[in-house]
Amino acid sequence: MATMIVVGAQWGDEGKGKIIHLLGKRADYIVRYQGGNNAGHTVVFDNKHFVLHQIPSGILQPAKKCLIANGVVLDPTSLREEITFLESRGIRVRGRLFISEWAHLILPYHKYLDALRESGEGKIGTTKRGIGPAYSDKVGRVGIRMADFMEPQTFQRLVEKNLEEKAPLLKQIVSLKKLRQETLSTANRLRSFLAPFVTDTSLILTEALHKGKDVLFEGAQGTLLDVDYGTYPYVTSSNPIAGAACVGSGIGPSAIDEVLGVVKAYTTRVGDGPFPTELHDKTGEFLRSRGQEFGATTGRPRRCGWFDGVVVRHAVRVNGFCRMALTKLDVLEGIDPIRVCVAYRYAGKTLRHFPASRVAQEKSVPVYKELPGFHGPVKGITRYENLPLLAKKYVSFLEREMGAPITLISMGRSRDETIFRDKKFRWRP
Ligand code: IMP
Repeated sequence: MATMIVVGAQWGDEGKGKIIHLLGKRADYIVRYQGGNNAGHTVVFDNKHFVLHQIPSGILQPAKKCLIANGVVLDPTSLREEITFLESRGIRVRGRLFISEWAHLILPYHKYLDALRESGEGKIGTTKRGIGPAYSDKVGRVGIRMADFMEPQTFQRLVEKNLEEKAPLLKQIVSLKKLRQETLSTANRLRSFLAPFVTDTSLILTEALHKGKDVLFEGAQGTLLDVDYGTYPYVTSSNPIAGAACVGSGIGPSAIDEVLGVVKAYTTRVGDGPFPTELHDKTGEFLRSRGQEFGATTGRPRRCGWFDGVVVRHAVRVNGFCRMALTKLDVLEGIDPIRVCVAYRYAGKTLRHFPASRVAQEKSVPVYKELPGFHGPVKGITRYENLPLLAKKYVSFLEREMGAPITLISMGRSRDETIFRDKKFRWRP
């Protein structure tokens, strides 16, 4: 048995999709434990591009089983679309995808509430998928779980109660009658479609672990979007960090062997909020266009900046990363010099650790270390020894700054564009 949690070390979009797809070849089970269809993984499989939002990318590999566990918030409509899309491309989903009956749902009114909040002063640049309102209902104890959805009368009773409670806000943007009708009739259509997938995924997972199966836990978003350890309030409403994998999938911490962080060779973020190393110049534009930095879910251009060692040190600590996967190193090729943020200056002090204060996060000025850039094509290199010396120096510098070893380096979407540095890494395909 081997288990590993994979988490983004920055603000999401670190390239987890490819890493999970690649290492998932060794897994029997792949588990999503938080987030919802705000996530977007682009995976290349059989020379086709797939963008998946809720279903783990492991579904593309025939022998794998995929679990959407209790910590996820599920949009039943978008889930059906995703299943139908995969089936239309010849991928067998039935018998391989399992959805937790304990998972909470995203319902049409959550999307309206998300849009309403995003239209006002409290805007943070969400994906408008209803994630925040759905998680608010969950912790506010008025949420509706998949098990409730499967019981038509319970579902209707809970929907009526929710609509009544939320009416003062909802009626500002939508007819309550229409919304009630939309919520109930869609549910009736979806119930029998989803029923075969719905089960207790904690039981399935526990049994798999007892049988010695290999399990990969796939974190969505990234550490700096974590509701506890991110740039609050500019965060998502769940905990992407590794500690949440157990709560979000119904197993205990003793079942976890390893935690892998995925980190980009520079930094990006979508949505609003602090981003100390953001570049508003030609280098930022260059990173965006060469790195194709546009959101997989919303298509929004990503904000780009230098690698932030303070951010990633924070991520290494709060996740307990044992090792890192470095992505998109090739994008930096030809940029000379390259800068890496090693600390912040704020209020006359030098900070080595990411501050909790929202003012400090906003106003911190990066302290940079300049490194010579590397030239010559690095894409296509599959052995670490063959990388240009200055590229290797950059990699070693990042390792020292982060405080965790880089086990693999990815320089493109396909499997071949990967360097494995640790030959003994048991998840190596
Ligand atoms: P929400 O998760 O839709 O509520 O959005 C909250 C914040 O998280 C916004 O800044 C989003 O842009 C960001 N976000 C949510 N999901 C992702 C993701 O998968 N990648 C990157 N950013 C994300």
